Amino acid sequence: TEALIITIDGPSGSGKGTISQRVAQKLGLQLLDSGALYRLVALCSIRQAVDPDDVVKLAELARTLPVSFKLGSEGVAAFLNGEDVSQAIRLEEVGLVASKVAALPEVRAALLERQRDFAAPPGLVADGRDMGTVVFPNATIKIFLTASAEERANRRFNQLKARGESVSLARLLEDIQERDSRDMNRQVSPLKPAEDAVIIDSSQMGIDDVQDAILAIVDNR
Ligand code: C5P
Repeated sequence: TEALIITIDGPSGSGKGTISQRVAQKLGLQLLDSGALYRLVALCSIRQAVDPDDVVKLAELARTLPVSFKLGSEGVAAFLNGEDVSQAIRLEEVGLVASKVAALPEVRAALLERQRDFAAPPGLVADGRDMGTVVFPNATIKIFLTASAEERANRRFNQLKARGESVSLARLLEDIQERDSRDMNRQVSPLKPAEDAVIIDSSQMGIDDVQDAILAIVDNR
């Protein structure tokens, strides 16, 4: 029998990271945070001072990077060479580099099989931009989770404020719009809903509402 695969794609700040973790936990499934893979490649390239134009080197990094993930109380921890880099990969700067390396077809190709390897019984929740369109085109359930750029900027603003970081809301909105347009307009695997995806706009929904909506879709499958 085929493993149950639930793909959750959408722009950054849509809440898909939190939702994917919750759904995976609730259903006892594996979790793939594909954005973390791109962030790990980015972090490693920054540390090794790889020329951002050196596609061959970046693709090799993507293919050979010794990464692992471990589910803990604070979500999924990411390890590079055994070092816990969960915090480091979340830095804005790393996210920006990640979205640049993610635009390289060679890097995406290098990560394709590595991502598919996460599909194991009893099933997988895959979180990303192209999980339903490219990586798992035969997924059981495809969700496209979105929210307005303004709402996503607001959420991010409140998150950072709660952490005591001061940032400008206008600047956050600009960054989000810039990343959206890079993700949606790139040649390879642009961010877009799969034809058979269920689109959920979470602008007016709380995180529990979104979780309930997705679990209901799984139940009714
Ligand atoms: O989701 P997250 O913000 O961690 O992803 C970091 C970057 O990796 C995104 O801006 C996006 O450009 C890229 N990405 C991607 N395809 C995925 C997941 C992430 O291109 N499946």
